[in-house]
Amino acid sequence: MVKIAPSLLSANFAFLGEEVKKVTLAGADLIHFDVMDGHFVPNLTFGPMVLAAIRKYSHLPFEAHLMITNPEKYWKNFADAGADIIGIHIECQIDHISLIKEIQKYGKKVCIVINPPTPIENIYSFLEIVDMVLIMTVNPGFGGQKFIHSVVDKIRKVNKIRKEKKLNFEIEVDGGINEKTSRIVIENGADILVTGNYIFSGDNYKERIESLRWKK
Ligand code: DX5
Ligand code: ZN
Repeated sequence: MVKIAPSLLSANFAFLGEEVKKVTLAGADLIHFDVMDGHFVPNLTFGPMVLAAIRKYSHLPFEAHLMITNPEKYWKNFADAGADIIGIHIECQIDHISLIKEIQKYGKKVCIVINPPTPIENIYSFLEIVDMVLIMTVNPGFGGQKFIHSVVDKIRKVNKIRKEKKLNFEIEVDGGINEKTSRIVIENGADILVTGNYIFSGDNYKERIESLRWKK
């Protein structure tokens, strides 16, 4: 069964802890926490102190999607705040191999994240060591954007390699996911769907979450 990861970017920030509790009770599988630094992406969100404050509102795994220029400087703050999964963009100018190993040694999972314009081949050399691959289906920075259909081919390619090489990483998608686009990404290999606007704009989070779970 596909996993659903509500993105808190579209939650009501005045009641963030309550929102986390509500999506947990509504059947979410993990909590997606979008970190933006106003430099890697043209927007600002929240930092590790906010993650630490809301951590106790759910027993689910938290993933910190780091849309920041220097993940190597800040990942540990998010890990210590309670993140279980650290998402690192391939577009960052860093030594990815060393950072992935360092995070895993610290006992956290690593997700390698790729933006729509970046060639999928750029992440191939990391597929054997990462725990997850996050294929962005919108350009990062804002919630509520339209799904970019041309990215589906990337999901298909990564899923093919996973099968051929018998690898174990999970494939996650993020951006523009709703009851229609969820089917397309699941049919092409996605295991985890991040969705913000679609879930939080509804009155009934449980119904919204269930409507995303197409059978493979
Ligand atoms: C975009 C973020 C997403 C975003 C997805 O930069 O990484 O997690 O919240 O939001 P929706 O589901 O609204 O497209
Ligand atoms: Zn995200």
